[in-house]
Amino acid sequence: MNDIFVIKSKVYSGEQSLKKLAEIQGTKACIVSDLMMEKLGYLDQVVDLLQGGGISTSVYTGVKPDPNVSVVAEALQVYWESGADVLLALGGGSVIDTAKGVLYFARQYAQEKDEPFVKPSFIAIPSTSGTGSEVTDFSVITVDGDKIVIVDDFIAPDIAILDSTLTKQLPNKIVVDTGMDVLTHALEAYVSTKATDFTDALAEKAVQLVFANLETLYHDPADPEARNRVQNASCMAGMAFTNARSWYHS
Ligand SMILES: NC(=O)c1ccc[n+]([C@@H]2O[C@H](COP(=O)([O-])OP(=O)(O)OC[C@H]3O[C@@H](n4cnc5c(N)ncnc54)[C@H](O)[C@@H]3O)[C@@H](O)[C@H]2O)c1
Repeated sequence: MNDIFVIKSKVYSGEQSLKKLAEIQGTKACIVSDLMMEKLGYLDQVVDLLQGGGISTSVYTGVKPDPNVSVVAEALQVYWESGADVLLALGGGSVIDTAKGVLYFARQYAQEKDEPFVKPSFIAIPSTSGTGSEVTDFSVITVDGDKIVIVDDFIAPDIAILDSTLTKQLPNKIVVDTGMDVLTHALEAYVSTKATDFTDALAEKAVQLVFANLETLYHDPADPEARNRVQNASCMAGMAFTNARSWYHS
């Protein structure tokens, strides 16, 4: 059997990589986010960078942890009304998964109506270091209390921006919980029957980075080096498990 390894997303990493937004091509962006991103000022930073590059913005900040279909439907409405050619997710895994849901259902609706669907460029900016959703091709949506997974290459972000300054104000509990997610994703990828040399390499490096940096980050969430490395680990674990998951492979 032949193996396949795919990473669709272009990844920018490092402190201040958010500034890459000034170079994004487009005319109008729909930003999916939450109230925490607004409160911490990250949403304003993103809006300013986009507007500086000539891109106007519409914003949805209603995402809640473990988003349900109502949240996706609300965000979809904002996206439709915006006529955006850029879809941007700013937040944790819940925000990125909501934006993926928007993309998935917008295309499905167009197909059902037999209307053309022009895919927006999809940018994911994670504000937690845990899910790796910025590079995976699936979205976890809560339906009637159960988590449902939508899997489609189409919803994998085109661009992921890992600017670790966005995780500077994460509470310690979230740092640790999400750090454990990184380890889990890496280990699941490593023991998967679909693991390859490529996914193993990413999983091994992710585990190494978590062991070397998560404890430091717990004691000093402002440590820039540890923040950067744990965020890279999260993304690498996402790359590994989106390619090595045993429950789905195409
Ligand atoms: N699609 C995927 O590849 C994938 C993989 C694993 C998990 N998930 C899903 O991701 C979700 C969990 O995502 P998560 O762990 O990133 O948490 P989250 O997105 O649910 O956020 C948790 C809380 O942290 C807050 N927060 C986020 N960033 C912050 C910051 N920088 N500073 C302060 N507070 C901040 C949020 O506002 C929220 O209240 C779950 O729904 C899970 O099922 C998706």
